Amino acid sequence: MATTADYGLGPNAFPRGWFMIAVAADVSSTPQAVHFFGKEMVLYRGKGSGRPILLDAFCPHMRVHIAKNTTSYIVRDGMQVEGDSIRCPAHGWRYNSKGQCDDIPYSTHGIPKSACLKSYTVEERAGCIFMWHDMEGGAPDFDLPALSEWDRTGEGWVRWTPDHLGTLPIHPQEILDNMSDIAHFAPVHGSTGTVYFENVYDGPIMRQRFGSGHRTLVDSEALLETDTWYTGPGILLCRMEGKHPSLMMICNTPVKDGEVLVWFAVMAKTADNHQPTCEEAAIARAYHESGLAAFAQDFELWQHKEPAISVLQIPDDGPFHKGRIWYRQFFHPRARAAEFQARVNGSHVTLRGKGEVMQVA
Ligand code: FES
Ligand SMILES: [Fe+2]
Repeated sequence: MATTADYGLGPNAFPRGWFMIAVAADVSSTPQAVHFFGKEMVLYRGKGSGRPILLDAFCPHMRVHIAKNTTSYIVRDGMQVEGDSIRCPAHGWRYNSKGQCDDIPYSTHGIPKSACLKSYTVEERAGCIFMWHDMEGGAPDFDLPALSEWDRTGEGWVRWTPDHLGTLPIHPQEILDNMSDIAHFAPVHGSTGTVYFENVYDGPIMRQRFGSGHRTLVDSEALLETDTWYTGPGILLCRMEGKHPSLMMICNTPVKDGEVLVWFAVMAKTADNHQPTCEEAAIARAYHESGLAAFAQDFELWQHKEPAISVLQIPDDGPFHKGRIWYRQFFHPRARAAEFQARVNGSHVTLRGKGEVMQVA
């Protein structure tokens, strides 16, 4: 298992950015343990606000895990979450949504200042829970994608149901490399006659524009065009036009250094400016299934590969080196992010079809 240090990505073992940590429907007022970025955390929905709350899991009193308990009476009685606050199952210390202890039931001497849990910025959007992760503890310096299609069912969009694909024993660098990988499309995914392939780097955004034929997905002369972009290191979105517009999301979230958890989801606009019928929703599900089948082709390579600490890159490969420089900005203190952005910002064209105009906006 190769680590951030093995790839020479930067001093922070885990990247800064927005990351998916749960499917919203799975988060309730029953606290659940979540493990990402080498850390144990507790995730629950406040009974007061209904908002998801994410705190470090180990109580500062005696380091008991707040979420891993089923037998304490406070848990069995359903008294652990009060409003947006949560009590430790050991001695009942209560922490508010910011992680500050605001009640020690038996204390006659107040509450120690150091009685607090680290809290994290979380957003619930498009049926998913995202967290902002930053080893420096800073506020977000770029936005979570809007994912507004989720709220446009009246225009014909069918909401996604994210698939949890489990963990891969690889560093996410190997997944990010896919953005630069022009040469895998034909042998892996069945693309034919690639017409154009371009990467665009713009601060925390890395984009891939790709147009080619395909063995089965389009008619013989037609182009399959995708516009794919990362917003930070953890969230990939891919827009495809064609018969029905679709938006695919692939999220990678580090579990520990060298291991990553992956989610997959697709929304498609299969109805014409009305709430999708059952039949139209089924078409969107078929988009999900065919996208997942394509992603499984990448997944199988990742499951069994060795780490490519360096790529034996040839001139006709895509710009792996640039993708890796772009990725390094998230493993360095944010004060240095601009250095890495400046080294790659702009367009890198690996293949521009003769006389072709880039067609994907
Ligand atoms: S260990 Fe949490 S209240 Fe004592
Ligand atoms: Fe791929």
